Amino acid sequence: MFDVEKIRQDFPILEQQIRGKPLVYLDNAASSQKPNAVIDAICNNYRNDYANIHRGVHTLSERSTADYEGARTKVKDFLNAASTKEIIFVRGATEAINLVASSYGRTNIKAGDEILITAMEHHSNIVPWQILCEQTGATLKVVPINQQGEMIYARFEQMLNSKTRLVAVAHMSNALGSINPVKDIIDAAHALNIPVLLDGAQAAPHMAVDVQALDCDFYVLSGHKLYGPSGIGVLYGKQALLEAMPPYQGGGDMIRKVTFDSSEYNVLPYKFEAGTPSIADTIGLGAALDYVSAIGMDTIAAYENELLTYVTEQAHQINGLRIIGEAENKGAILSFVLENVHPHDIGTMLDTVGIAIRAGHHCAMPVMDFYGVPATARASFALYNTREEIDVLMEAIDELIKVFG
Ligand SMILES: Cc1ncc(COP(=O)(O)O)c(C=O)c1O
Repeated sequence: MFDVEKIRQDFPILEQQIRGKPLVYLDNAASSQKPNAVIDAICNNYRNDYANIHRGVHTLSERSTADYEGARTKVKDFLNAASTKEIIFVRGATEAINLVASSYGRTNIKAGDEILITAMEHHSNIVPWQILCEQTGATLKVVPINQQGEMIYARFEQMLNSKTRLVAVAHMSNALGSINPVKDIIDAAHALNIPVLLDGAQAAPHMAVDVQALDCDFYVLSGHKLYGPSGIGVLYGKQALLEAMPPYQGGGDMIRKVTFDSSEYNVLPYKFEAGTPSIADTIGLGAALDYVSAIGMDTIAAYENELLTYVTEQAHQINGLRIIGEAENKGAILSFVLENVHPHDIGTMLDTVGIAIRAGHHCAMPVMDFYGVPATARASFALYNTREEIDVLMEAIDELIKVFG
């Protein structure tokens, strides 16, 4: 049984009042709050076990190394990867995509090649490819979306061709909530031997992900959206691809032997982890994965889907509210605009009654251009949100419309 009140007790930050009202935290697509289990895991490392990892011969280093590598096993299990060699720790989804663009991209992509993305991508899944195109002479192709905010699959199929060298798409859009048909995308691309990168920054916190069942070539996620710490994320890559890729950064830990003439690189996954990593945060991410796994990703997805259905029904009843993004397959995100009220004013006004949402372009400016809006207000939901919080949000929006309208 999913007991949201019990879950809320695991998140100490949610207990507070903001401007005299109970905090209603609906900015989860930007970053989610942390349960005690994560906070405790980080504190425990710093209080009891902290030391630099891997080369230590003393007890603290051994303990931190065991917990750091333990987190890698937890990520492997969470994504159902075949091996811990396929799990690279990075700073977040952004760094993971940049790693692939730099290392895989510069080795495999050349002038005349095409990289295919969609029109709903986060800037993190646009700009690294633009940089790669500038450096190589390749071309970035963009699969359009329809008014509901769904990628037009027929256009995707038409745009895949013998020049396409990589497909990089969001598993779930942060600006619209749309969930892309990633299995079909991967199967279609693989039929032409084209690898696929999935940007899972939004999907991984909200649904079960099985990289082997999907057969994706790369999958990226950010810890801080998954109830874990900021500054830690994951690049999953198929072992054969990672083996063939050159290092992304040079430095300590990613080498086996260094002379002034040349260096011999370390084995996977260390080849891609240069320098001292974010040790305690990695251990914190492991605790976050334990936390959500104990609840069950399918249970979380089902609960959040109920929230989405409820908030969508309520939003449809508000005159002057336009939902931006109504994909049939959608995660728990409500992006919207109001007649006569700028999204930034919506955000500021809602804060006065304790409600935290995000207003802006959500790092997806092309999506804003497509809908002809400068920005949207976005309420994004997590496993600890409730129907009562949606009622509070809707009442506040009603009030706002009365004042401004
Ligand atoms: C879909 C998507 N991709 C990539 C990112 C970038 O994640 P990060 O800033 O954690 O690197 C985000 C963050 O909002 C996102 O929503």
